[in-house]
Amino acid sequence: MPAISASAPGKLILCGEHAVVYNQPAIAIPVLSLSTTTKIFAHPTAPKGEVIINAASQRIKENIHVLPEDHPIRRIVELVQANFGLSEMPACEIQITSTLPIASGLGSSASLSISVIRALSEFIGHPLPVERVNALAFEAEEIHHGNPSGIDNTVIAYEKPVYFERGKPLQFISIGTPMHIIIASTGISASTALAVAGVHDRWQKDPARYEALFTQIGSLSRQIRQYLTQGLTKPVGELLTRNHSLLQEMGVSCPELDQLVNVSLAAGALGAKLSGGGMGGNMLALVTEETSPTIEKALTSAGAKFCLKVTLPASMEG
Ligand code: PMV
Repeated sequence: MPAISASAPGKLILCGEHAVVYNQPAIAIPVLSLSTTTKIFAHPTAPKGEVIINAASQRIKENIHVLPEDHPIRRIVELVQANFGLSEMPACEIQITSTLPIASGLGSSASLSISVIRALSEFIGHPLPVERVNALAFEAEEIHHGNPSGIDNTVIAYEKPVYFERGKPLQFISIGTPMHIIIASTGISASTALAVAGVHDRWQKDPARYEALFTQIGSLSRQIRQYLTQGLTKPVGELLTRNHSLLQEMGVSCPELDQLVNVSLAAGALGAKLSGGGMGGNMLALVTEETSPTIEKALTSAGAKFCLKVTLPASMEG
């Protein structure tokens, strides 16, 4: 019997991170050149409930019951099982491969969840609609990330640029002209949950200051959305850099991120900022096709551990 296979991309937060947790809008785009793929092989002769997890990048090849109860892969399989009200899963091997670096701010956990949900629901014979895939992936994110806004699972489930506001209907964004972005990693692995908790503590100590920062970032996201749709790259870049300054004030940047932001701006980027939880992880630089090689070289010389160029194509959305 041929394997059932499903994939999910990575993601990049363009603007509005952290403020999005406090109900401000943020913008994220899918990174389609990176993906997680889940293949399911039926084991018709094995006893019901025998599920083997094979995830080479995490060095796992185990019966699911051997994994800790709170293991992300075990939790997502159990969420799918509960969704269908199954007392046991049909016997199978779940093989997961990914080109996404783990804990890199590129959405590896949401991408894994979504590829597993898509593949398993198809294997069970009831492929789930995107809304349900998204809702299940959000439940999985909640287990592991405390208080996620839901932007990661949403952009990965829909695979389109999203304008995301917690608790409001999802909006997609039209992109007026292709946007070229370099993602560069500091090589420092940082916990998003800790960064979010840090902002929460500081907000509680000084609500007026932090709420003003969240509001300003929300207003930047609204303007960036308009400029993206109008295809006006230069003002998008300027506002991205302003977003970085506000994230610095919020205390979620670090010297390595600031250095990569400054280096890319000095090398001609239209704008640059940290992306995601901060305190390490990744930054992004808005570039042009012409400036891209120089900026990538400058970032690498300044210590970026990897650079990935992504192009956000022009698109029309409702
Ligand atoms: O670290 P990442 O790329 O998963 O991004 C986290 C984005 C935050 O706004 C900081 C948290 C969230 O849940 O939205």
